[in-house]
Amino acid sequence: MKIAIMGAMREEISPILEAVGEYSTVEYAGNVFYEAQYGEHQLVIAYSKIGKVFSAITASVMCEHFGVEKLLFSGVAGGISKELKIGDLVMASSLCQHDVDITAFGHPYGYIPEGSVMIDTDEGLRSLAVEVAVDMGIELYEGIIATGDQFVASAERKEWIAKTFNADALEMEGGSVACVCHNFDIPFFILRAISDSADGEAGIDFDTFLQSSAQVSAAFILEMVKRLGH
Ligand code: ADE
Repeated sequence: MKIAIMGAMREEISPILEAVGEYSTVEYAGNVFYEAQYGEHQLVIAYSKIGKVFSAITASVMCEHFGVEKLLFSGVAGGISKELKIGDLVMASSLCQHDVDITAFGHPYGYIPEGSVMIDTDEGLRSLAVEVAVDMGIELYEGIIATGDQFVASAERKEWIAKTFNADALEMEGGSVACVCHNFDIPFFILRAISDSADGEAGIDFDTFLQSSAQVSAAFILEMVKRLGH
């Protein structure tokens, strides 16, 4: 099967590239794509750069140009839920865009006409993740992930996102990748390991824990890939 593995930052895909060992590179639409054989699967790996626009470009290219059959996102997030501590894994049940605001026209936050506030991830991939977590003895949280073009480092903004979207974690790419995959009808999965708590300490925590949390997420994604069928 041809599988996309995406991150936003180089640090988020480096552990994947190290694990696959040999790969070739292709440049397309301002991105480098790494192609590798991993067991029986062909992988297309890339980091998009930060944010909704760049991640939407990369996900679109993976779907349309590379013809991937599934897309798995690996990276880090700011934790909202008090249960989520740095290094914990959260998989998105659904995702939204917390910075979309056309409430002036009577729409709810996060809503774009002809779209929906929430987009669900693939159920089959979520079930596979639960199996992997049980076998690896890892606690895997499931929840709503809110995406926006903001690095959230304030308790007020975090609380607003929590209460408006019932969100458990936040980041800057999942919602746009979800939108692309949903529109191209490609099953997708978004996994994040917590790097910070999106509060006043978030900048420092992010820099401190980006690498270790990215590694936790990448190791889990690779285990999922190993278990995916043809
Ligand atoms: N990704 C990881 N931490 C984040 C934060 N605090 N805000 C936005 N994206 C993030």
